[in-house]
Amino acid sequence: MRSSEYKVTQLKVGGFDDNFSYLITAENGDAVIVDPCGDTNIIKTAFRNNKKIKPRYILLTHSHNDHTSGIKAVQKFFPVDVYAHPKSAWHGAKHLTDCQKLPFGKGFIEVLFTPGHSKDCVCYRLHDDSALFTGDTLFIDWCGYCNAFEMFDTMRKILFPLADSNIVYSGHDYGRAPFAKLGEEKFRNPYLKSETFEEFKEALKNL
Ligand SMILES: [Fe+2]
Repeated sequence: MRSSEYKVTQLKVGGFDDNFSYLITAENGDAVIVDPCGDTNIIKTAFRNNKKIKPRYILLTHSHNDHTSGIKAVQKFFPVDVYAHPKSAWHGAKHLTDCQKLPFGKGFIEVLFTPGHSKDCVCYRLHDDSALFTGDTLFIDWCGYCNAFEMFDTMRKILFPLADSNIVYSGHDYGRAPFAKLGEEKFRNPYLKSETFEEFKEALKNL
């Protein structure tokens, strides 16, 4: 596995349905929380275990309630703006643009609009291709319930072409493992590996 200036802490926060929140830190202390939800004390403890942390962003993968329920509690110790897709239902979120590069550490976090599960779905890629935060778009072994046309396009045109080295960190603990390399999912995940829309629709019958 390549080394990275970033550290990802996957937080099993429980919540509505085995949700994950994430704390990402860079070597210079820059810090991001993705989808604050569930038991926010778990997020607070992870935050306090990191010295010299500089809160930068709260990022939403989408605005379904189970992914946003902890925002207010988390902002008490991580006082930064929330960033989300322009169609986000979260009031007061700063709006992102597709392919935007959010400065982070020595590099950036790339914003990828990935409609399908909802209109406001966003994935976030660390610039060194060490991690991809996929919310309810791509799970390990599965994808989120979806508009089939939009999701197939997202899988084929946006996610499949990304580097194999990205570790997929999704919004729920649904798969054979809590995370896995994108390169592995390209072979194992029936929704990501479907080459035709027909194949994809067939796979959706098992969702
Ligand atoms: Fe969702």
